[in-house]
Amino acid sequence: MKKNILAGFMAALIVSCSPADHTKVIDSTEKKVEELLSKMTLDEKIGQLNQYTSSWEMTGPVPEGKDQQDQLEMIKSGLVGSMLNVTGAEATRKAQTLAVENSRLGIPMIFGYDVVHGYKTMLPIPLAAASSWNPEVARQSCEVAAREAAASGIHWTFAPMIDIARDARWGRVMEGAGEDPYLGSIMAAAQVKGFQGDSLNSINTVAACAKHFAAYGFAEAGRDYNTVEITEHTLRNTVLPPFKAAVDAGVSTIMNSFNIIGGIPSTSNHHLLRDILKGEWQFDGFVISDWNSIGEIRNHGVASTKKEAAYLAINAGTDMDMEGDCYVFNLKQLVEEGKVSEATIDDAVRRVLKIKYELGLFDDPYKYCNEENEKVQLSQEHLDIARDLARKSVVLLKNNNQILPLQKDQQKIGVIGALANDKDSPLGSWRAQAVTGSAVSLLEGINNVVKNKGMVKYAQGPEFVTNTPKFTEELQFNESDLSGIKEAVKLAKKVDVVVMALGENCFQAGEGRSQTNIEIKGVQQQLFDAIYAVNKNIVVVLMNGRPVVLNNIAQQAQAIVETWHLGSEAGNAIADVLFGDYNPSGKLPVSFPRSVGQCPIYYNQFSTGRSANTDNNVFWSHYTDEAKTPLYPFGYGLSYTSFEYSNIELSSNELFSEGSIEVSATISNTGKFAGKETVQLYVQDLFGSIARPIKELKGFQQIELTPGESKKVTFKISKQDLTYYTAQGKWDVEPGDFKVWIGTNSQEGLEGNFTLN
Ligand code: BGC
Repeated sequence: MKKNILAGFMAALIVSCSPADHTKVIDSTEKKVEELLSKMTLDEKIGQLNQYTSSWEMTGPVPEGKDQQDQLEMIKSGLVGSMLNVTGAEATRKAQTLAVENSRLGIPMIFGYDVVHGYKTMLPIPLAAASSWNPEVARQSCEVAAREAAASGIHWTFAPMIDIARDARWGRVMEGAGEDPYLGSIMAAAQVKGFQGDSLNSINTVAACAKHFAAYGFAEAGRDYNTVEITEHTLRNTVLPPFKAAVDAGVSTIMNSFNIIGGIPSTSNHHLLRDILKGEWQFDGFVISDWNSIGEIRNHGVASTKKEAAYLAINAGTDMDMEGDCYVFNLKQLVEEGKVSEATIDDAVRRVLKIKYELGLFDDPYKYCNEENEKVQLSQEHLDIARDLARKSVVLLKNNNQILPLQKDQQKIGVIGALANDKDSPLGSWRAQAVTGSAVSLLEGINNVVKNKGMVKYAQGPEFVTNTPKFTEELQFNESDLSGIKEAVKLAKKVDVVVMALGENCFQAGEGRSQTNIEIKGVQQQLFDAIYAVNKNIVVVLMNGRPVVLNNIAQQAQAIVETWHLGSEAGNAIADVLFGDYNPSGKLPVSFPRSVGQCPIYYNQFSTGRSANTDNNVFWSHYTDEAKTPLYPFGYGLSYTSFEYSNIELSSNELFSEGSIEVSATISNTGKFAGKETVQLYVQDLFGSIARPIKELKGFQQIELTPGESKKVTFKISKQDLTYYTAQGKWDVEPGDFKVWIGTNSQEGLEGNFTLN
């Protein structure tokens, strides 16, 4: 397509050195790897495939029988190739010294960490960044995160998470780019580019890790770590495209997923790892297991011992063992028994050493450990970027009677809700080294822009209580004390408009946080109802890590602003939007269900045999107690201005296999504000060798329009855009009729049609 964002982005990824230079670099790295490999004993090789966590920070279940002293000795003996969760210039230097100064060959370790949406400066959670529909937001976010993490001695982030997520019950929806493979692919490539920059050798970049390979987001019933049953077609057409985009963007590493697919654990899945990733895609980085996912092959009932699990995983193509102790204690024996070839071990080790060379660790193992560089963390420059990216990530879901934007100093505003005064939740889950409570709260953000302090008053409503301090404090609402609601009602009676923060606190979404009820529930619902009884001018500011069910709030609130968890500058960014200093431009990367019973719900579904209620009888695909459409569809988002779409035009209604056609429409700003619109292109392949989705996103463009201004937006469609994994088991196009839409979201659009010859 013209200005196809994916193609443009891929082109920009081509490194700036000439092809000849690039080949030389590759050649010399390969030579160095081979020289080193030839000096290594089998034990030392296996050591490179072993990763341990630092004992002072755990991001998974604490492994049984771990002895820190033993691990220190193993590092010194060259039996630990990598560590995770060691952070800080000083700590990483100390840990690196153990390996470099003591082991026979002095091979440096590679330090990995979950730097998902920031290191100290928190940027919007990835789901929010995807709501910007702007790959530059995702890229810049990862660039800032990489710079801060690299300054603390981190070489490698376990991000981006690029799992397609269609089920809002799954807590890890917050870590990804939502439900769509096209948008997901663009965001995946942008994130890889942001983390890795043009060269891993720079002290401002880190190696990226695309995870979780594969189909982790398809866990049955939205329950984390649960079974996945998925067809090869859905795997290829929906789940894998973001991974392919990440590989094409040069991602250094890939992480397995915890789930089984068709009974085979991803970690020991030969088809995924050897056939597709390392075979078809020629991926030349390394594959790391997830936390003890090799050991968990036993829990899946597919191996009875760690040794058997190691045998399955290494032969399937998993190169490094995270916290499983499966490789380091079993691979040697497996080689001696002829069950694993030394060539297989060599291949895995080569891949690990290659990334270490590319990071420059053999030139200077301490190059990232520099306290001076840590000053970049939380710098004003990074906070300014965080604010800018955060406001671009906000999605306006409703704005009746143009209640927004609010007027500074002219309206009495009642800010209500514990989340509005919460300096922690906006930091979100997976917050790396963010200081607890360091975000700008919504209340602070509003107070920063309203000069007349008498015009803004706050009432907390029900309070948070600390519930289960596990990894980090988990906050819940105090359901037993409703006195706060009375105070809030008192305030609501006296103000012109209520700004009410509702949603989820930071750790309600994230790993291990699946939920069966995703409503705004309990005391928050009671708070809304009580306020609504006395003041109808309610602006709901949602803070959450997944789509939530809004029930009556959707109808009764005058305005709804989706802010997700926006990071360090959340409050300032939300205030920018509420008062019109930034006209909201975000669009949903996920469908919002009307009720949890609709999950999984996504726009690019298949038609059923009984999609329409033509006979007015009960036997069609629907629910008897709820509409089957989402509350807010994929791609949906409003602006303070209004946009009108007109004049869809196709340069031809026939597309010949080597040619292309242009599809265009005119977009006009018919409102009072300058604004940004994301114009979306969808197609439907009407008949295929297998059923095709009723709509598929194939392109989007962002345009800015002043009031009264119109622009013609043109997309180019060629054969490549219409290929899919067909019934014949290959990527192909099938001639036939197509529908095409240009629209403002996945449900509304101007329709055209063409035939592919
Ligand atoms: C998660 C990964 C993460 C790893 C290391 C696992 O539990 O699934 O996404 O990278 O822990 O912290």
